[in-house]
Amino acid sequence: MPLSLKEAAGGACAGPSGPASSVYLVGVGPGDVELLTVKALRLMRDADLVLYDRLISPEVLSMVGPQAAMLYVGKEAGLHTRPQEEIHRLLHLYAHAGKSVVRLKGGDPTVFGRGGEELEYLEARGVPVQIVPGITAASGIAAALRVPLTHRDYADSVRFVTGHARSENSAPVAERYRWEVLSDPSQTLVVYMGLSTLPQFADGLLQAGLDASTPAVAVQDGTTATQRVVAAPLGGLATAVEEASLASPTLVVIGRVEARALLDSLKAGGRLR
Ligand SMILES: C[S@@+](CC[C@H](N)C(=O)[O-])C[C@H]1O[C@@H](n2cnc3c(N)ncnc32)[C@H](O)[C@@H]1O
Repeated sequence: MPLSLKEAAGGACAGPSGPASSVYLVGVGPGDVELLTVKALRLMRDADLVLYDRLISPEVLSMVGPQAAMLYVGKEAGLHTRPQEEIHRLLHLYAHAGKSVVRLKGGDPTVFGRGGEELEYLEARGVPVQIVPGITAASGIAAALRVPLTHRDYADSVRFVTGHARSENSAPVAERYRWEVLSDPSQTLVVYMGLSTLPQFADGLLQAGLDASTPAVAVQDGTTATQRVVAAPLGGLATAVEEASLASPTLVVIGRVEARALLDSLKAGGRLR
C-alpha cells in the first residue's frame, strides 16, 4: 500500500523542524531501464517518497517500490507546471519527515538537470544531499548508435551545450554563444534541448566556419523502443529534422565521430541532404 503524500510528509506538514534526513538526487539515465545504476535501483526500491520529472520512462518508474508515494514535478513547455522554487520547498519539507526522499532525474542530475540548484537550496538549509550519477543522454545515445564521443583520430574533446536559454534571456541565438569555441572541428558537440533553435544554431556554426559536410545526427527518445534517428551533414540537418517531425526529447550530436552514424543511415536507405 503506497504512502499518501501527507503520510510521507509525516510530522513535517507543519513546517521543517529538527534534523533532516538525506535527500537523494538520483540520475536514472536516458530511458533504457537497464542503464540504471545498482545504487539508483536500490534507492528507488527503498524510497518512501519519490519526486520525478517528465523524462523518466514508465519502465524506470515501474522499478520504484510499491510503498513509495509518487509526486510528479515535471515541466512541460507551454503548460502550467510546478515552479522550481516549489520543488525546492517540497524537498526541504519532506526531508524533515524522517523519510527516505528520492528525487529522480533523467540522465545525470547535474547535466542540465537543475540538480545544482536543488543541492544549493537544500545544503543552505542544513539538509544533507547525496548525488547519484546517471548515464547522461550523450553517453547513452552515443553507445546506442555505436559512435564514440571522442576518438584519437577525429575528436580530442567533447562539449555539452544547451540550445535552450533561460526564460529571462531574450538574446537571439546568434548572440548567445561563443561560436568560435563551438565550431572547433576537432571536437564533438552535443546539444541538449536544441530542437526548437536547431536552424539558427546550425547557421551559427556554419557562419563560424564549421564545414557544412560535418556529420551530424539528431536522436529522439534515445535508448528506448521508440528511438528515432535522423542523420545528415550539418548543412542539411535542420531541414531533415523538420521533415522527419522529430519531437522532444531530442539530442543533437555534431562532429566527425558521427560519420559512422551517417554512413549507417545511408546504408539503411537514407540520403544525403
Ligand atoms: C532538461 S535536459 C536533461 C538532461 C539530463 N539530465 C541528462 O543528463 O541527459 C533534457 C534534454 O536532454 C536530452 N535528452 C534526455 N534524454 C533523452 C533521450 N532519451 N533521447 C534524446 N534526448 C534526450 C534532450 O535534449 C532533452 O531536451
